[in-house]
Amino acid sequence: LDLPVTNADAPTKTLPDAQTVTAVTKWTDSLFSFRVTRPASLRFRSGEFVMIGLPGDNGKPILRAYSIASPNWDDELEFYSIIVPDGPLTSRLQHIKPGDQIILRPKPVGTLVLDALLPGKRLWFLATGTGIAPFASLMRDPETYERYEQVIMMHTCRTAEELTYGAQLVQNLRDDPLLSELYGEDFASRLLYYPTTTREETPLMGRITDNLASGKVLADLGLPPIDPAQDRAMICGSLAFNVDVKAVLEGFGMNEGANSDPREFVVEKAFVGEGV
Ligand code: FAD
Ligand code: A2P
Repeated sequence: LDLPVTNADAPTKTLPDAQTVTAVTKWTDSLFSFRVTRPASLRFRSGEFVMIGLPGDNGKPILRAYSIASPNWDDELEFYSIIVPDGPLTSRLQHIKPGDQIILRPKPVGTLVLDALLPGKRLWFLATGTGIAPFASLMRDPETYERYEQVIMMHTCRTAEELTYGAQLVQNLRDDPLLSELYGEDFASRLLYYPTTTREETPLMGRITDNLASGKVLADLGLPPIDPAQDRAMICGSLAFNVDVKAVLEGFGMNEGANSDPREFVVEKAFVGEGV
């Protein structure tokens, strides 16, 4: 006798490509992170992005690009999101809660992947705002530390509270006993963190472009001059930020690469538009 297999606890999937929200954390009035179930078949490289969304009023999905903030070994997916007050997606996405469903198109793509860079000694992650999301993935991927001796996370926001998500993530990594076991007690010297603000007084201040070009970040962290033979970088911020950082890196003799042509640095937009 063939009885249909049912599971009363499983949420009913009403959306195509539906995934279930498992956790939501509010960081500021305009920043939150959330976790969703991971489709069993979804493989991605840390640093890539997918399209996620919610059904619109006319039944047509409202989909937007989102970097996957969790590493590729995690059995859930994490995202870190802005809230744009009148934004078609985030004006609604900000209200999701555990048990709700979102749409997730399982086709990861992107340039911020380790394979798009040449081997080297130091890997710089350069981000503003939600641009830290792909690096939240890469900082949690052991492959990053297998390929590079040192990782330097530079994150700049206008205010201190906007840095909290990244600060807590770095702290958790440094406190992780497994990472210390894998990489020694000095894991904190393998993952350097340089958070700065530009519109609120904090211990470290200034734009990433200025702190790189002036050498301030090198002096503060005790690092040697940027060397195109040893230093690699990934950039993720507004279009204006990306253009300006790219010029600074090119000034150091570094060149932009791609999946098909690994070089010294890669760039991806954190969002399209002027920013909010
Ligand atoms: P939209 O109509 O999409 O945006 C309205 C305006 O808000 C934009 O024109 C822009 O000026 C501003 N804006 C949008 N997103 C941001 C942002 N993240 N930071 C500052 N200003 C913004 N957003 C995330 O929050 N987290 C991510 O991980 C993320 N990854 C992305 C990856 C890629 C490759 C791209 C292209 C975009 C990414 N975005 C990310 C932006 C995202 O796709 C949406 O634009 C955002 O969720 C807002 O959607 P919306 O429909 O509410 O407003
Ligand atoms: P600033 O406050 O000096 O403009 P935004 O919220 O406008 O997207 O900016 C996020 C952070 O990125 C801010 O700290 C901002 O500094 C910085 N920023 C914006 N544009 C650039 C740029 N072209 N080069 C370097 N940093 C930038």
